[in-house]
Amino acid sequence: MSQKTQPLRPASGPVTAESSQDAILQRIGELPPAPVVVVKLITLAEDPRVMINRLVEVVRYDQALTARLLRLCSSSFMGLREPVEDLREAIWYLGTTTVRKVALLSQRTYLLHAVPEAERELQKSLWEHAAAVALASQRLAEKVGGVAPGAAFTAGVFHDLGMFALHEYVDEDSEPSLEPADDSLSHAEIGARIAQHWDLPGYVVQAIRYHHAPSLAGEFRRIASVIHVADIVARRAGLGVLPVGEIEPALESGTLDALSLAQGDVQELVLALPGDLLVAKKMLSLSGG
Ligand SMILES: [Fe+2]
Ligand SMILES: [Fe+2]
Repeated sequence: MSQKTQPLRPASGPVTAESSQDAILQRIGELPPAPVVVVKLITLAEDPRVMINRLVEVVRYDQALTARLLRLCSSSFMGLREPVEDLREAIWYLGTTTVRKVALLSQRTYLLHAVPEAERELQKSLWEHAAAVALASQRLAEKVGGVAPGAAFTAGVFHDLGMFALHEYVDEDSEPSLEPADDSLSHAEIGARIAQHWDLPGYVVQAIRYHHAPSLAGEFRRIASVIHVADIVARRAGLGVLPVGEIEPALESGTLDALSLAQGDVQELVLALPGDLLVAKKMLSLSGG
């Protein structure tokens, strides 16, 4: 299910602000499409009445994911007496939410295609941050309403997609900025364009684009706000990442009010997040992730 792609880094030659922007845009256009199973799973996540049959139809064509789900279902995590050998049965036991979670979080290689092999530590923390924000986004969506928790999880997983690309280009001596003053692209804009190129749903594209400025997200403000707050929650829980050239993002004023949240609610999420992440990691390692 994982897919090898070319990194966004130019093959050779000096990188200037202009050439890096052009090179990034060109390489976004050259990226292969997202795996069909991922796009389908994301679409299913938008439908609250997802039936097991439809999920089986999507997953059965992905051998690695099928094996992963069967292993997880037969592990001590589920506490079943008999090993499960049938995909439909496994999905039934695990539940559709867990199946989506495993499928999206196990896309490590896929999410991290732009990071050079040598930067393992960075890869690890970027993945951990993506997972943490996804989990916090889901909890937040359950709490505030108006955003499907599955959709929030999906947007959370992909929110910093552009960081992987931008990290390759930022000059360590340049002024840190979330929204560069010149016409260079922010990690949010790069991520949105990659998501667009992959034909991910509009809400994912816009949540990525505005995850540091949700008030600009128009009709997608609520989901962008959820991702924005979840990002802050992850940072406060010590699960943030700060690539070269980026400043620490601050909570945009008015966002908590827009979601009818108090600081105490944020703190509650900060406290719950490490436990949620631990469960997710356990689930993935049991399933061979
Ligand atoms: Fe970000
Ligand atoms: Fe982030």
